[in-house]
Amino acid sequence: MRKALERLEYRGYDSVGQATVSNGKLVIKKDKGKISEVHAKTNLDDMPGHIGVAHTRWATHGAPSKENAHPHTDCDNQIAVIHNGIIENFMELRRELEDRGHTFRSRTDTEVIAHLIEESVRRGSSLTGGVIDTMRRLKGAFAIAVLSSHDPQRIVCARRESPLVIGVGEDAVYCASDVPAFLPLTNRAIWLEEDEVATLELGKVEIRALRTGEIVKRSPVEVTWTREAAERSGFPHFMLKEIYEQPQAIRNALRTQRIYHELVASRLDSAGVVYLIGCGTAYHACLAGSYLLAKLAGLRSQAAIASEFNHVHADLLTKDSVVVAISQSGETADTLNAVRQSREKGATIIGITNVMGSTLTRLSDVYIGQNSGPEIGVAATKTFTAQVSVLTRQYMKKLAEVPNAVTQVLGKQANTIKEIARKYKDRPSWCFLGRGISEVVAIEGRLKLLEIAYIPSLAYAAGESKHGFIAIVEPGYPVVFVAPRDETHTKIIGNIMEMKARGANIISLIEEGDKQIESISDDVIEMPKGIPSFMTPLLYIVPLQLLAYQVAVEKGYDPDRPRNLAKSVTVE
Ligand code: F6R
Repeated sequence: MRKALERLEYRGYDSVGQATVSNGKLVIKKDKGKISEVHAKTNLDDMPGHIGVAHTRWATHGAPSKENAHPHTDCDNQIAVIHNGIIENFMELRRELEDRGHTFRSRTDTEVIAHLIEESVRRGSSLTGGVIDTMRRLKGAFAIAVLSSHDPQRIVCARRESPLVIGVGEDAVYCASDVPAFLPLTNRAIWLEEDEVATLELGKVEIRALRTGEIVKRSPVEVTWTREAAERSGFPHFMLKEIYEQPQAIRNALRTQRIYHELVASRLDSAGVVYLIGCGTAYHACLAGSYLLAKLAGLRSQAAIASEFNHVHADLLTKDSVVVAISQSGETADTLNAVRQSREKGATIIGITNVMGSTLTRLSDVYIGQNSGPEIGVAATKTFTAQVSVLTRQYMKKLAEVPNAVTQVLGKQANTIKEIARKYKDRPSWCFLGRGISEVVAIEGRLKLLEIAYIPSLAYAAGESKHGFIAIVEPGYPVVFVAPRDETHTKIIGNIMEMKARGANIISLIEEGDKQIESISDDVIEMPKGIPSFMTPLLYIVPLQLLAYQVAVEKGYDPDRPRNLAKSVTVE
């Protein structure tokens, strides 16, 4: 089991655990740390029995710790559950279960699953029946595998939104969140579909649909991927995989418990001044955040580059200042430095990060986990849209349609984007322009192109472009306009005309059917209609990420490992 876990560890995790059954009892080893660290302490290979579950955790609810590591068990230590995903209604369920006398040992959302199955099995259900009953109570995303000491011949697994795949071997059957876990043992795989539950026994896999309760027949398919391709779920690069993971990443970001948003709102409402700080892409999320705070909450705020924050703003901080620090890794030295200085001045720190247990979470008074899962590509993609989702959700509840709109864009526009990449890939410089909140999209799109395709590029608030940038525009210069149909629409048409008059090639991101801008553009990327203006960054950044990716690939670069860059910059 340890080896299978190691094959998933390339994504980086914070804790590890395993459970097997022996002599009618569960045997569990788990702890915080990397697999090698936990193995050195507990010898993960020394587990009795022939059936087991194992997990590496990327913390969402509850910091990385031994107690919060999976597997989680029921009151009697007879049912062990491992889980990927987020249970949205775990607080209600936990309260309900505690009222009925259940004892909880962790702060995870996962543990409710073990106790719910326990109740169902006590009422006489089989393990599979218990999992089905429990699935009906759960809201959110999950891929689970369940082992019971009462029923040591089978594992029951199930999924909703989070991936789960079954491996069918000659003399064993496996289930995992991802193919690499079992690929050296078997290449025959069955992907579990939405809301299905599978009972695995030696030589037998039985799949049922939750909705109908009926058995589903599905034969294994042969996986021809190499281990490397399997790690990327068949995508040529992690960056592309992560671009395509954005609908799910946005859904997960929106799953943050309401209570955290309420806490953040109360701190922001009583703030004298609000600063949003971050570096690189996270700084761009700050810019979007400051726009949203101003427009939707009427709050005055200032986005600042973290490395400049101490020079410029720190002296002005007081006890009623609030500093919102955004960092995917939670470990960026420039951001942490600004946070430490702000704490010394008595400011309240709100952290938004993808890594629970990171230094940022420890330095924050309140923090929100963005729940994006591991991001391997050095260029931030899904973590940016997740950060902006967290910030948008703070003030707008109706974000539910955005993930489907992102899926639509990725499906419909991928070929157009590839063609645009081919057409303009050899241009020595590009410019990205947008107005209002779309300026953020323009500068983040520029950063993506610059960092992975190494094309020196510019980005401006479109209205500012005529105050300098326009001097370098000559025939054939590619200018990308982020032009949703919002309050900036009329003005951006004027800006397009200015560039067109100088012979620039106009590439416009427009709302579907926007003939006005289409008629003055050389190329258009069409976006779904009816997305409220404050939500457009979440959607309009996606084609620009894909464009940068395609240009990099066309030029023969590895988008996952851009030169001179590191995923987490821990030096100032
Ligand atoms: C850009 C990128 C970097 C990071 C920056 C901050 O694609 O990845 O600009 O956004 O180094 O990193 P975090 O968010 O970890 O603080």
